[in-house]
Amino acid sequence: MKKIVCIFGTRPEAIKMIPVVSELKKNRKAFKTKVILTAQHRGMLDQVMDLFKVKADYDLNIMKRTQNLEYITTEVLIKIQEILRKEKPDMVLVHGDTTTTFAAALAAFYEKVPVGHVEAGLRSYDKFNPYPEEINRKLTDVLGDLYFVHTVSARRNLLKENVKSRNIYLTGNTVIDALKMTLRKKQGFINKEIGKLNFKKKIILVTAHRRENWGKPLKDICFALKEIIQKHDDVEIVYPVHPNPDVKNTAKKIIGKIRGIHLTGPLDYTDFVNLMNKSYLVLTDSGGLQEEAPSLGKPVLVLRKVTERPEAVRAGTVKVIGTDRARIVREASKLLSSRTAYMKMKKAVNPYGDGKAAKRIIKSIRRYFNRSY
Ligand code: UD1
Ligand code: UDP
Repeated sequence: MKKIVCIFGTRPEAIKMIPVVSELKKNRKAFKTKVILTAQHRGMLDQVMDLFKVKADYDLNIMKRTQNLEYITTEVLIKIQEILRKEKPDMVLVHGDTTTTFAAALAAFYEKVPVGHVEAGLRSYDKFNPYPEEINRKLTDVLGDLYFVHTVSARRNLLKENVKSRNIYLTGNTVIDALKMTLRKKQGFINKEIGKLNFKKKIILVTAHRRENWGKPLKDICFALKEIIQKHDDVEIVYPVHPNPDVKNTAKKIIGKIRGIHLTGPLDYTDFVNLMNKSYLVLTDSGGLQEEAPSLGKPVLVLRKVTERPEAVRAGTVKVIGTDRARIVREASKLLSSRTAYMKMKKAVNPYGDGKAAKRIIKSIRRYFNRSY
């Protein structure tokens, strides 16, 4: 029996780690599973935990209204260390590239506990894009012992950094597991405003929250949305806004009262993916959406300079366009007006997984332990 501690703290980590936690818990004879939440996010994390009915064993509850990277890193490091000393796990699992991910992996390393990194090997090769995620994931991969990658290109990135190939497991991304679990559920909307949308119009789903987009880039994105809605009367824009005060205040100020633009709070994951499924187009700076939308056949315009997820770009459903106002308007207008351009991008591709990633991760962990003992 091996004790596995899963540590996560933000919305996307919860969405992508819960399939792993569920699968570990199904294997009760082989694994004792503990869940530690850093709660780097509070409300957005709780939404996901409640939806999937997962209970945590520990909750560090660290989120503050304004929190900087140093605060998150040190709080997580110190508080996780205490729990690891008490629990003495055989392995810690972390996910992705948040500051929770990196600090938890560092704490595990200090306690000499092997680290399994779910969604390892993503690289943009640009230190400040996305910031701080590119460095968080690189550091986590330095601290790691086994690596679950979603694509062969992520595997290649790790090999270039001299990670041993026997420690890399190609599993696919658990985001597709979560998506499949959720799309099976009922299709109505919990959020009343979303339920009342006119779905005969073309829905553009927008999310933007990244640190490197705070300030001018986010303002430009908002001005572009305003221009798009003024130019196209067959369109409705829905932007579930991240609760970070910097993001929320900017969005509210520029597009809070524009007809046809719906600013909502963070949507329940079920509402969000069902809305994405009914949308025409996605505009986002998120990482997870670049994986979910292509599998639903939705074109994505990425509001970033670079992406660490080149597979869907290569497949033609995702285009990286940056945050220049005129370019956003131009690219979105092209997809709204030209059926040929739209149909060229609208194809369901699934480079990131088949919904069985969590099962493969558990199988790989078993193999790892059989090998090491
Ligand atoms: C974090 C991650 C980012 C990830 C994103 C997913 C870091 C440095 N950043 O960014 O990689 O893509 O989560 O969403 O790890 N807040 C709330 N309620 C919540 C969540 C956040 O009010 O449920 C507000 C708080 O004011 C908080 C702020 O948002 O201080 C920023 O949260 P933080 O986790 O520091 O950064 P994110 O931009 O969410
Ligand atoms: N999401 C959600 N509700 C929302 C917006 C996003 O449930 O209102 C989900 C989305 O489906 C995806 C994840 O949250 O799985 C993406 O989170 P975010 O954009 O915050 O983080 P990133 O993917 O950029 O790390």
